[in-house]
Amino acid sequence: MDFVKEINQLRKEKNAVILAHYYQEGAIQDIADYVGDSLGLSQQAAQTDADIIVFAGVHFMAETAKIINPTKKVVLPDLNAGCSLADSCPPESFKAFKEKHPDHIVITYINCSAEIKALSDIVCTSSNALKIVNSVPKDTPIIFAPDKNLGRYIMKETGRDMLLWDGSCVVHEAFSMDKLIELHKKHPDYKIIAHPESEEHILNTATYIGSTSGMINYVKANQNDKFIVATEAGILHKMQLEMPNTELIPAPAVEDNTCACSECHFMKMNTMEKLYNCLLHETPAIEVPEPLRSRALLPIERMLELSK
Ligand code: 13P
Ligand code: SF4
Repeated sequence: MDFVKEINQLRKEKNAVILAHYYQEGAIQDIADYVGDSLGLSQQAAQTDADIIVFAGVHFMAETAKIINPTKKVVLPDLNAGCSLADSCPPESFKAFKEKHPDHIVITYINCSAEIKALSDIVCTSSNALKIVNSVPKDTPIIFAPDKNLGRYIMKETGRDMLLWDGSCVVHEAFSMDKLIELHKKHPDYKIIAHPESEEHILNTATYIGSTSGMINYVKANQNDKFIVATEAGILHKMQLEMPNTELIPAPAVEDNTCACSECHFMKMNTMEKLYNCLLHETPAIEVPEPLRSRALLPIERMLELSK
């Protein structure tokens, strides 16, 4: 079957929009109406006048789109496309943690469930985390969850202390420091760029740290340089498409990782066939019951407002 042709026809007939993250396989990025980072994707979800949002990403992303658009149908090609970071923050334990620190403002990274968002004051993404944290008065204590690596990076950049939840992303923690040093020895003229979900020792080697969009923009602005890219390897598709002459190497992962480079198996659960099927059958659809949805919407709206 010609999935490109069929998807194009269906999306027109059904007034559907396809939103994809940079970690999706190349064919999905190529057919999407919009490809972006978590902030860009939630901004697109807030703006769209489509009747159906096909979210080619992971569950928390589609769930965020549904929280913003309760009357629209939001479908995810594979309902099992979860996120280790979101899973590292179970609502019951987080609620108990929050209750121990009632004077703290809760800032949560968007990579979390609707239940965690509903327990938050403001949501952030990797591209606006510094701005969001800096928007909180200096004397107000902050709980930051669920990513401890991003949290530690923000603490270093802002010079302020935060209480960190002990969560992390399996993909960004799979980079091998030994292999990275070895690779850099072979290619000393390559600059290392990294996503802030990576561990501190990896971030310490980087000349640039930022969200997926930030990393793409940095490469665009420095096209004559060469880069070792420390984030999920799907990002190389967009970089190579826009900067075909720039030399890029994905940062190496530890031996026992499923891929020699870091691939997110959750993101890669979506395929063109599943995308076609979910658009055709309008399932699996994401549902977020009230009042959970309204409670989770508030901190997302605060983030969107602060990101204008
Ligand atoms: P951004 O694309 O917002 O940088 O997020 C990266 C990520 O890990 C998404 O799951
Ligand atoms: Fe979650 Fe990490 Fe995969 Fe992003 S790359 S979806 S944070 S497991």
